[in-house]
Amino acid sequence: MPSVLSPLTDALGRPLRDLRLSVTDRCNLRCTYCMPAEVFGPDFAFLPKSELLSFEELERLARLFVRGGVQKLRLTGGEPLLRRGLPDLVARLSSIGGVQDIAMTTNGLLLPRLAADLKAAGLKRVTVSLDSLDPQVFGRMNGLGVQPDRVLDGIEAALTAGLGVKINTVVQRGVNEDSLGELWRALRGKALLRFIEFMDVGNHNGWNLSAVVPPGEVLARLGGNFTPVTANYPGEVATRYADDQGFEVGLIASVSAPFCGDCTRARLSAVGVLYTCLFATGGLDLRASLRAGASDDELYALLSERWHARTDRYSEERGELTRRSAQRPKVEMSHIGG
Ligand code: GTP
Ligand code: 5AD
Ligand code: SF4
Ligand code: SF4
Repeated sequence: MPSVLSPLTDALGRPLRDLRLSVTDRCNLRCTYCMPAEVFGPDFAFLPKSELLSFEELERLARLFVRGGVQKLRLTGGEPLLRRGLPDLVARLSSIGGVQDIAMTTNGLLLPRLAADLKAAGLKRVTVSLDSLDPQVFGRMNGLGVQPDRVLDGIEAALTAGLGVKINTVVQRGVNEDSLGELWRALRGKALLRFIEFMDVGNHNGWNLSAVVPPGEVLARLGGNFTPVTANYPGEVATRYADDQGFEVGLIASVSAPFCGDCTRARLSAVGVLYTCLFATGGLDLRASLRAGASDDELYALLSERWHARTDRYSEERGELTRRSAQRPKVEMSHIGG
């Protein structure tokens, strides 16, 4: 079991512990901060099925990452539940020795149909994105006028199926700031809510520092007295606080308080490109090697070489990098899975 004892470490001493697997670049929403409808319109060329890693290929690569130290797997998209047969993939991934946790980031719309099968296949947790309970605000933010009740149904289905549930809310100044208290009061007893600073991922979301709402302001909008809670594990992206009644909330402040120093996450796109940072401009095409007939040992050598060379710390360098390389195209959130 070398992976558990000695994970691969990067050039800054950070171990490889998490793998985020994107299984599709498609989504049934068009959140303005992720896949704005004017860019991802009816004519947008999404990936054809043949380009996507098959479940067999995904399992094979996941096993190699586990050999390199990965303990946590997270399925992402686009919207991962749009990938047909997803419970079969979860079952394959669950069979990998050394995997301690399998989670998924989803918009929740298809959970009523799929939650029970996913749980039975070995999924442990879902993180559901929900930005507001105000129908107008949520409808505008998801780009398609979809109502919050549909997401709430998905959350209920996940809870009923016995899945752990977290909720991600992206906060944008002047857009959903006024909704935060309502979300908190309605959902704090059901799931861990995490408020995320709006980030400059991708190339199309019109990000601006003035639209970022820092943690202090978010807590003030929730009301009550909050005290910090010790992190569950090193590198936890959310800083958690508890109120007087013991309800916890998480704040993900990757802009105002970057956490690159503890970043143990590798990301594999739906076409099998390994990215070592959410803000990367390029990655390592493992699918090309895999489909050219590389052996497991050859693939493992490629991925370990890439992790050893990793120096990414975009969020810590953001100010300087955005000035120096404003034109540099970054990978899209819907391609790399957040
Ligand atoms: P668990 O702690 O295992 O529940 O998962 P997580 O919080 O790492 O995963 P999740 O996908 O829910 O992450 C929440 C959000 O934090 C993402 O949607 C991103 O917006 C942000 N985030 C996650 N990982 C990173 C990262 O490596 N860098 C940056 N800058 N942001 C990240
Ligand atoms: N800034 C912050 N979070 C984002 N997400 C998507 N785009 C952004 C952004 N620009 C979050 C979604 C979801 C996860 C996939 O990433 O809300 O929770
Ligand atoms: Fe889809 Fe999630 Fe992106 Fe919204 S944030 S467009 S739900 S992938
Ligand atoms: Fe990791 Fe890159 Fe995010 Fe920093 S910016 S925490 S290196 S993914």
